[in-house]
Amino acid sequence: MAENASAPQSAASEVALQATSISRRYGAVVALADASMTLRRGEVMGLVGDNGAGKSTFLKILSGAVVPDTGSIEIGGVEQSFRRPSDALEAGIETVYQDLALVDTMSAVQNVYLGREELSKNPFLRLLNVVNDGGMRRRSREVLAELGVGIQSVNVSVKGMSGGQRQCLAIARALLWGRQIVILDEPTAALGVRESQQVLELIGRLRDHGVSVILVSHNMQQLAQVADRVTVMRLGRTIATRTVADITPETIIGLITGALPADVATPEDSATVVA
Ligand SMILES: Nc1ncnc2c1ncn2[C@@H]1O[C@H](COP(=O)(O)OP(=O)(O)OP(=O)(O)O)[C@@H](O)[C@H]1O
Ligand SMILES: [Mg+2]
Repeated sequence: MAENASAPQSAASEVALQATSISRRYGAVVALADASMTLRRGEVMGLVGDNGAGKSTFLKILSGAVVPDTGSIEIGGVEQSFRRPSDALEAGIETVYQDLALVDTMSAVQNVYLGREELSKNPFLRLLNVVNDGGMRRRSREVLAELGVGIQSVNVSVKGMSGGQRQCLAIARALLWGRQIVILDEPTAALGVRESQQVLELIGRLRDHGVSVILVSHNMQQLAQVADRVTVMRLGRTIATRTVADITPETIIGLITGALPADVATPEDSATVVA
């Protein structure tokens, strides 16, 4: 698409993730058709759509769990070809799945460092693969405090933690590892009101740290509270992107159901352009 001269050169560097014309079929089923998204640095993008609209497929492709048939993904302006989840992690994308992938019997600290334990600073202990327990505990406490996550001790097993605390811990892990992009698949679906609020506040703090967030949610109120923009999917397509402050929840619902028409030319904030 030709950009006009008024688009500043620096705007390109503000794009954290650019997904263009992603398609994916499963046999005869078209799960994703020509899906695109521009995620800016430090913004929260809501991703909405009815059941089967293609949200999870889109997320799985962005997190390397599913390989697309066609389309391209750029992270910070660099084209990527994700074949597996570790490729996306390396590119700075952390995905927090609904089941959280935390290990019950391990402590908060162990979960935050799961699979990426820091070795002891002592060269002899390093040779024996002894981990730097003190350092990991200290760093975990710092990150959790920075994020305002209320966990009594980082040494206790996560088994007794609430859903909200677990979700927060999983998000904290993303920040600790310096991820630039965090993908959250319905993080508050199983949480109560207070816990949901805690997670939403945490998402706000991630944004304050310059992290970009993609958030799948069916809850319009929550999206209105935390999302900067929202991308709507219908039948495998990304049909519209809107600035949340400019629209009402009813508009989003209208776009999801088809009561309101899809954008014809570019889905990128075209309503703002037309208005
Ligand atoms: N592994 C698969 N094999 C076959 N079909 C699939 C597979 N994954 C997704 N699909 C199909 O692709 C379409 C999009 O599914 P997807 O899970 O991405 O939707 P969704 O928007 O996440 O829906 P929901 O809100 O119900 O989670 C659906 O028709 C689904 O049945
Ligand atoms: Mg889904």
